[in-house]
Amino acid sequence: MTDSTVGFVLGTRPEIIKLAPVIQECHRRGVDTHIVHTGQHYSDSLDAVFFRQLGLSPPDVNLEVGSDDHGAQTGAMLAGIEEELQATEPTVVFVQGDTNSTLAGALAGSKMDVDVAHVEAGLRSFDDEMPEETNRVIIDHIAEYLFPPTAETAALLRDEGIPEDRITVTGNTIVDAVETFDNEAATSSQILSELGVSEGQFDLLTAHRAETVDDREAFERILSGVARASAQAEREVIYPIHPRAEDRLEEFGIAVPDQIRLIEPLDFFDFLRLESTADLVFTDSGGVQEETSILGTPCVTLRYGTERPETAFVGANCVAGREPSSITAAATQMRGKAGDWNTPFGDGTAAVQILDAIPELPDREAVTAPE
Ligand code: UD1
Ligand code: UDP
Repeated sequence: MTDSTVGFVLGTRPEIIKLAPVIQECHRRGVDTHIVHTGQHYSDSLDAVFFRQLGLSPPDVNLEVGSDDHGAQTGAMLAGIEEELQATEPTVVFVQGDTNSTLAGALAGSKMDVDVAHVEAGLRSFDDEMPEETNRVIIDHIAEYLFPPTAETAALLRDEGIPEDRITVTGNTIVDAVETFDNEAATSSQILSELGVSEGQFDLLTAHRAETVDDREAFERILSGVARASAQAEREVIYPIHPRAEDRLEEFGIAVPDQIRLIEPLDFFDFLRLESTADLVFTDSGGVQEETSILGTPCVTLRYGTERPETAFVGANCVAGREPSSITAAATQMRGKAGDWNTPFGDGTAAVQILDAIPELPDREAVTAPE
């Protein structure tokens, strides 16, 4: 091991999945890591299952902050992360994406004068009502190292006046994760037979964002639009439902259309298997828009905009909004596409490029094989 300790602050499903390749690359280079889990996600199906499946050791510490309003949740994280940074003095602290955990990690690092490295920097929805947009902008302006996935996202950072020497375009670490685990998912996952569905004969839905599911009418409209679009193609829709969405269904008393089958959230291998074999994917998730573009499955995004426009530029994604008529029109446009576009998110070496860009860390040639 080297003298450096690299800190990681994470707290939700997508952060675990997308930081896993960077954590693994640290270990490959003999660099010590200290992983602080905020506890924002705590259900096994959103949290521990990914550590197990992606071959990560459990976090070094779990702050067990749990669910709360934004201020209380982020504040509790800040206090806990600060203590951890004081105790471990990392060379750099990594955060990923745009969640409250990401913001807390970046703020704590910045105030403690620890260099903050932001993986998946530069994404913008230009929708100030999304809490994630506030988080992203703040994080990008306080981080020392910014790792935008694409040239487009790097350009957005430059437009905001962020100095060039902080920016390195690396691709998205989700490509690394998909390339590492896709074959294993294809051979080990039994999800198709468990659900009794056949390759190419079903649609997949994920919807969990606050702006989709916390608004009763919006949630009902997207369910109705997806059900109609899939009925037209005689496809059943599989919907692994996020707990936030499940809570809202119950609270609003929404009747889910028969076309849509609700199931528990899936582990990464089962989810990848469904994503790569679905006829069409409907989603409001950022990660799912990326993964479908990597796996060659056409995607319809149930939002009015996206911070991943590259997926639409290559023809992998149609941003449909939330009206049933626009969802059915987008589904007609996307269904049956060959999926032969080039992925816009890089070549699966994002984690290697990210560590190479941090001068205090050993470069890829200095790798000592783990014992
Ligand atoms: C958070 C992120 C969002 C990200 C998503 C990934 C913010 C502001 N939002 O949204 O950007 O896309 O994670 O999935 O950071 N709950 C459980 N078990 C859990 C966690 C949550 O049941 O392990 C339920 C609770 O009822 C909670 C609700 O889900 O109130 C929402 O959780 P929260 O962490 O506030 O936000 P997410 O919707 O998960
Ligand atoms: N995912 C999963 N199981 C599921 C649904 C999603 O493993 O049942 C994974 C998916 O492969 C992707 C990530 O979760 O990598 C996306 O997370 P989410 O949609 O919660 O958040 P977002 O990307 O929108 O922030």
